Order: sequence, then structure tokens, then C-alpha cells
Amino acid sequence: MCGIVGYVGPRDCSDVLVSALTKLEYRGYDSAGIAVFENGKIEVAKSKGRLTDLVAKMEKEGKPSGHAGIGHTRWATHGEPSDVNSHPHSGRRVTIVHNGIIENYKQIKKFLIDNDRTEFLSDTDTEIVAQLLDYYYDGNPVRCIRKVLHEIRGSFALGIVFADRPETVYAVRCESPLIVGQGMGEAFIASDVPAIIKYTKDYYLLEYGEIAVLKNGSASFCNLHGRMIEKELKTADFDEDSAEKGGFEHFMIKEIHEQPTAVKTTITPRIEDGMPNLSECGITPETLKSFKNIFIVACGTAMHAGMVGKYVIEKLARVSVTVDIASEFRYRDPLLNEDDLVIIISQSGETADSKAVLNLAKEKGAKTLAVVNVKGSSIARESDMVIYTHAGPEIAVASTKAYMVQLSVMYLLAFEMAYAKGRIDEKECRRLTAELVKTPEIIERAISLEYNCQYISTKLITADSLLYIGRGLDYALSMEGSLKLKEVSYIHSESYAAGELKHGTISLITEGMPVIAVATQTSLLEKTVSNIKEVKARGAMTIVICDEAAEFDNDAADYTIRIPKISEVLMPMIATVPMQLLAYYTSVNKGNDVDKPRNLAKSVTVE
Ligand code: M6R
Repeated sequence: MCGIVGYVGPRDCSDVLVSALTKLEYRGYDSAGIAVFENGKIEVAKSKGRLTDLVAKMEKEGKPSGHAGIGHTRWATHGEPSDVNSHPHSGRRVTIVHNGIIENYKQIKKFLIDNDRTEFLSDTDTEIVAQLLDYYYDGNPVRCIRKVLHEIRGSFALGIVFADRPETVYAVRCESPLIVGQGMGEAFIASDVPAIIKYTKDYYLLEYGEIAVLKNGSASFCNLHGRMIEKELKTADFDEDSAEKGGFEHFMIKEIHEQPTAVKTTITPRIEDGMPNLSECGITPETLKSFKNIFIVACGTAMHAGMVGKYVIEKLARVSVTVDIASEFRYRDPLLNEDDLVIIISQSGETADSKAVLNLAKEKGAKTLAVVNVKGSSIARESDMVIYTHAGPEIAVASTKAYMVQLSVMYLLAFEMAYAKGRIDEKECRRLTAELVKTPEIIERAISLEYNCQYISTKLITADSLLYIGRGLDYALSMEGSLKLKEVSYIHSESYAAGELKHGTISLITEGMPVIAVATQTSLLEKTVSNIKEVKARGAMTIVICDEAAEFDNDAADYTIRIPKISEVLMPMIATVPMQLLAYYTSVNKGNDVDKPRNLAKSVTVE
């Protein structure tokens, strides 16, 4: 939540900051601001609303002109979105931008008031930090930052400028992600690499408690104790094009189209001689045999990938798998011990609740495995084992390709585990793996149903509410279909186990209410079709997602989306596509901001 950037170098700083913030808007977009040294003085411009509102304001009122500064795009935590609550925030001599939360800001505010510091303009926790920095500032910025770090609690990253240190930007990371980019004679800070990829692919990853000083176009680093440190320069493995729309109208649709490649890039290095092989991720057959219980814990879409994982791992490897929402799991005193494996799935690798579960699992002695997309993210670095998904940067807030590659990893794990445990023989393992290898091509064919989905989505736009139903794997999948649709179309949607409808929910069905049934599992088709008929008989408008060969009464479905067939267990990877397309086009047809749905942010780094 929130994106921060900073720049020191020969370019026009305001332009660089705005350009970098554009790439971080997925982290929050209710207000934005920048602070730039102009003729040795800090000039601030900020505005409620999107970055475009800030740009418009600067066009009207003038933009700060200089070569060093910081910027911010906000997802409000403390204080409503407003001009005054927008970052940057200032003390008398210090101006800061902040990503994350300061848990003890009330105590600090009291401390400041008790010490005659009463000039608070905003409702934010950030301003308290700016004031505290100012309170302790004695002319030595790094010493002052270190002092403040010892007093504030929470998860945060800060970009800081001191009025008497022109052309210099300071940055510090405690939990919330922060990188320092290094270009030719210029240096950057950013919450994420795509923000600066246009300028440089080289970056340093700040660790907990590390402070960066950007001056004269380069960066130096020290730790929490003030000791200078050398850091390893990393190079991003993607380029500017991956972070651009590339001719598509929105990132979401671009990312839907990127799925075949993303799956291929994710599974290929983990398949050797036709068999799954996760050894490059530190996972051996012996490891996979050793666990009594498996817990998959995550949030949102990533948790839904875990739901599919549960069905597949239990079915093939016959190991008990519990899936839980991270924000619930962490507070329910879970029964965990050394014989258990906790799998954390996360696109960003920074989700606060998922991180907390990782720490809890480690405390309890369980083994931890991260399935993460963002390289070097906290969850990836702190887990015992990590399987990186290679989806490339996912910019749209609604996750599509990240979910798809998470599914592909769930399959690789299930196949290797089932084989290691002797639940399937080599022939079956090879067969399943070969089917997984085919998925990129079949996903491509499913994407070619785009126009059919676009047409059917026109039938959804007037709905206030709809249901997604399915059985077994289709039910697990329908949870994601429902979330995707509601988050971008703003139509209320629930996913329901088809067989459970009659126990209460069917009373919601009224004339014309859309019910989308996912029916890809042949063995359950007949039963799901009965449920579809039941809702249709009560007035529902039914849309059925099934495979191209599925046979059922024509009158059960008002609309049918027939998807290409693959082994039944892998059907979720194909059926996902029309669900994503339905969500996307419903949102487009309603004129919503598809890539930045209201109230959301991509990376949820607060509880
Ligand atoms: O970065 P993570 O995968 O940990 O994020 C978890 C959820 O916030 C995320 O999957 C969210 O539900 C999606 N953006 C929804 O499309």
C-alpha cells in the first residue's frame, strides 16, 4: 500500500518522480505528491485524487523544478484522502514520504505535544514521523534517522529530505519494500523495481533497518548501527516493455494474454526429462515425503490458488491439506509443529498477514515454503524454501497471470509429492506432467474465446448481484471467478458450492439473476446440471462454463462458454480464462477503472 519514489540526478526531478509514480499507482491511488529541491529550497506539490490530478494541478500552478526529490502515491490508512493528508509531510526542516504504518504514532504524538510540538496539519501517522525527525535533528541526518528508527514501531519505508541538505535524498526500510536504483550518474528509490525500469535495470535491495543516502548521482548505505555497508548490485530480469501496456487497453487484459508465456516460463525449468523436478527450489522427493500435514495460507486470489492446490494435492498425494486465510490463521492459535509444511502463496511477497503467518510457522518449528512472484521480496527471503513463479511484473490490481502461475506450481508440487509418496506411478506422473506442459497452448485457445465472453458480459452489466456455483475443483475455481468479477465490476457476487444452494442461498434467486456455473468435472456434471436447472426454474439467467465435449440438456443454459479440454484435474487452468474475461469485459462495459478498482491497492502491506 502506497508507493514511494525518490531521485537524485541530472534529469528534471519532477518528471522522473511523476513517471516513476505512474508505475506505482497500483499500490494506492487516492492522492499523490512530490517534494523537490528548487534552488536549494524544498518545494512541495500534492493533491487528492489520481496522479493525473496532481499533474493537472502542477500544470496550472507550476511544478517544482530541480534535480533531487521524493514522491508518493497513497492508499489512505490514517486520515481520509484529502489534499492535506496527501504526502509528502513536513516538520520544520524535514519532509518525508512514507509507505506502511506507524503503530505507536499516538504515543509519539503525545510525546511531541508534551515537548511543545503542536503544529500538526494532517490526520496521518506520517506527519508524526516528520515532526519526530525534526525534533531530533541536530544537523546529522543519518544519526537523526537512526534515533527515530529506535522509537517508531510498525512496518514502513521512508523517503526523506532535509532542508539543509539540498540535492540529497535519504531512505530507510523497515519491513515495507524499498529498492535503490543505480543509473549512470543518477540514483533512485522506489517501492518496486518497475517504477524505475525505464531509467535503469540495476538496483540494490534495502534490507530491514538499512539506510541509503543518495547524493551526486550515487548511493551509499549504512545499517541501523550507523556502520557503512557494501551492498550487492542486482539486475532486473525484465525490461520496460513488461511494465507497459504494449498496445492493450488495460494491464488486466494484457496480463490475461500473457498467461501462456507466464505458465511456460514457470514450469519449464521445473520439468526434467518429462518429470517434475523442484530441486532448484531446494525441494527434494525426500522433503515432500516427510510432512504429516500441509497448510496453505494466503490472502485473496493467492488463497484461491491454494484452494485448487488442496483439491489436487489431496486427490493425488493423499495428504491432508488445510487452506486458510492468512488474517484468520494468524490469530487462531493453529495446531502446527515440526512435521508440518506451511505453504505461503503470494504474488507480491509482501502481504502483511501472509508475512505474519510465515513468522508464526517458523516460531512453531514448521517448515515453510513460499510460492512468490516478486524476486527478493520478504516472504521469499524469509522462507525455508521458495518456488518463484515467473509471471513477470503484474500491474493490474486484479490478479490474473499471477493466479495462473500459482496454479501451475500447485500442480507441479502435487505431481512430485504424489510420485514421491508412491501414490501415483512414474507413468501416471509423466502423463500428468505432459498434460501440464500442454496447458500454455490450451490457455491460448481459451483466450481466443474472448469475443464470446465479451458478448456474454453485456448480459451481466445490469445485475446487482450474481452467484458463481460449482462442485469440487469447479467450486474452488468459482471462488476466484466470483472475486475477480466483484472486484472490477462492483457487482455483488458470491461463490457457492452448487450442492449447498438448497440449504438457504437459493432464496436469493429472482427473475433474471445471473448464475454462472462452472462445470468442467465430468464425474460431477450431471449433479451440477441438476443444480443449474433448479436455479433456472426459479428465474435465474444461467451461464455455463464447461468443456467443449460436455453433454447436457440444452435448456439448462441460457449461455454456454465451451472451453478446450485437457485432463480433468487440470481444467481449472483453462476454465480460469473465461472467468477473467467475463470480469474484465463487465468492468469495461460498465466504464470502471479496470486496472485500479475503487478502494483497492495491489500490495496489502497493512493488516
Ligand atoms: O500479493 P499477494 O498475492 O499476497 O496478495 C494477496 C491478495 O491481496 C491478492 O491476491 C488480491 O486478492 C488480488 N489482487 C485480487 O485480484
